[in-house]
Amino acid sequence: MKETSQRLVKAPKSAIRKLFDLASGRSDIISLGIGQPDFRTPEPIIQGNINALKKNITMYAPTRGVPELLELIQKKALNINKIEINWKDNIIVTNGASQAVTLAFASIFNPGDELIISSPNFVSYFYCASFFGVKVIEVERNKDFSPNIEKIRKSITKKTKAMLINTPNNPTGFALTQKDLKEIIDIIIENDLYLITDEVYENYIYDGLKHVSPASLDGMFERTITVNAMSKLYSATGFRLGYVIASKEIIDLMEKFHQYTIAGTNHAAQYGYIEALKMGSNFFKEIWKSFNKRRNLVYDRLNEIGFEVLKPSGAFYIMPSTEKFKLSGSEFSQRIMKEQAVAIVPGNIFGSFSDNMIRISYATELEKLEEAMNRIEKFIQNL
Ligand SMILES: Cc1ncc(COP(=O)(O)O)c(C=O)c1O
Repeated sequence: MKETSQRLVKAPKSAIRKLFDLASGRSDIISLGIGQPDFRTPEPIIQGNINALKKNITMYAPTRGVPELLELIQKKALNINKIEINWKDNIIVTNGASQAVTLAFASIFNPGDELIISSPNFVSYFYCASFFGVKVIEVERNKDFSPNIEKIRKSITKKTKAMLINTPNNPTGFALTQKDLKEIIDIIIENDLYLITDEVYENYIYDGLKHVSPASLDGMFERTITVNAMSKLYSATGFRLGYVIASKEIIDLMEKFHQYTIAGTNHAAQYGYIEALKMGSNFFKEIWKSFNKRRNLVYDRLNEIGFEVLKPSGAFYIMPSTEKFKLSGSEFSQRIMKEQAVAIVPGNIFGSFSDNMIRISYATELEKLEEAMNRIEKFIQNL
């Protein structure tokens, strides 16, 4: 047989999924692996989806999304993100943030273009880039996980087309400060680049930091592709709905790719998303408090156990170093699964600079987190 796609052959299967699969059959395992909140999807969202199905909304949806949903996203963009848009021109509904990222790549890149990413960073960006023939220029983050502005400046070449940021960040838990963001924006404008900004964790931000959407800032709208989804805020990862906000020119290009690859997203599910956006974000206050508690617990315990670890300011991940224990992140992750039944993702899947790190997701109930921390402590004591 002739050779199959080398781009796909070379991409490993998702290590997070593998871990998830390994853990799912075993009741003794506590999973700190998955990036999925543990609260139930709010009832109005579920009812919205069910009611749509009952009304026989089972045909193709409009390619860019149901107008009522687009109008609500426009409102949310203005009220929450301070981005002024017109729903007819500037939004496309996607299969989660994952496909929104794919559309971002499809719309601006040509093979050979370079994309700057601070590393470690979310695993999908690296493979999505390879599928589109884009060269990723990984720039190692500073020790505190902030972007290394000087190195970013030095990594720009004639081929640089864009930078991709994800704040609050998976896997580091780092949230950009206003100062970091201003520096990034200066680079984008000075070098005539695009900015892809993945904001799926915008609500999971702590210590008084405020999420700022780059597209809301002066001179940025036309060059910014904003990615977001209902997945994390509403604990609705299985709805597979998200969106892109961008200029009319970019959304028009995305629509073409959409038409020939997915034709649109799940029609009835979009009515669930409509109900979600009608709810506002007040329901999230208690959930936020709970996640903040978990963040404090995990950080304090990891510190006590002796990890070198930074307190995350966003998302629901924490990324300690395993170097002190003379274990790579992979060794740590494999051994703790075997010896203490805790599923933790090794750092090396998030780029080239995190071999000696692990990513812990604290989107798990407090009791389980406490038990997981006790198991981690035992594991370290037995080394
Ligand atoms: C930073 C980031 N972007 C995108 C996604 C994918 O989101 P979705 O489930 O909406 O496709 C994830 C999921 O973990 C993520 O962490």
